[in-house]
Amino acid sequence: MHPDLEEILFTEEQLMKAIGELGAQLSHDYKDKNPLFICVLKGAVMFMADLVKRVDVPMEMDFMAISSYGASSKSSGVVRILKDLDRSVEGRDLVIVEDIVDTGLTLAYLKENLLHRRAASVKVVTLFDKPEGRKVEIKPDYCCFEVPNAFIVGYGLDYAEHYRNLPFVGVLKRDVYVE
Ligand code: XMP
Ligand code: MG
Repeated sequence: MHPDLEEILFTEEQLMKAIGELGAQLSHDYKDKNPLFICVLKGAVMFMADLVKRVDVPMEMDFMAISSYGASSKSSGVVRILKDLDRSVEGRDLVIVEDIVDTGLTLAYLKENLLHRRAASVKVVTLFDKPEGRKVEIKPDYCCFEVPNAFIVGYGLDYAEHYRNLPFVGVLKRDVYVE
């Protein structure tokens, strides 16, 4: 446990079990497609690392950093690319690896952006989905866990850059963050 957390939602064991199942599913679905997994930094970094170890078909990785949040806990809807992909994605089967989908604004932007670059396909894998937070209609293709409309941290997810290193995921105490 951690003093800033209200409760733990997912233990390391629970995360690994779900990620193992997802890896097996993706190995099946992307057999012979040489997919390009795109990690959305920084939140998805832990998830990406654990997921790709469980994908046992040829694949490649790339990384993108985008910002929509700043230090606040609410999405602004304004997306900026801080670090772009290293290579062209034309004709590639893309798998976007996200930590969490909340309003859906980030993902809607990203999907559109990658399709414009003439990817063959763009699917979305997210560790967490917060369906109650949605502002645009978008549904992840693969999701490990649905979570309630609370601010969660740990396992890559941060508040003001903290808590990413926790091996589990929990709900941040309200008095720790500013709305
Ligand atoms: P949207 O709202 O555009 O946001 O779907 C997706 C991004 O917002 C961040 N996010 C969170 N980060 N705990 C976090 O640490 C949360 O509960 C949370 N909800 C959204 C996250 O960076 C995600 O990629
Ligand atoms: Mg993120």
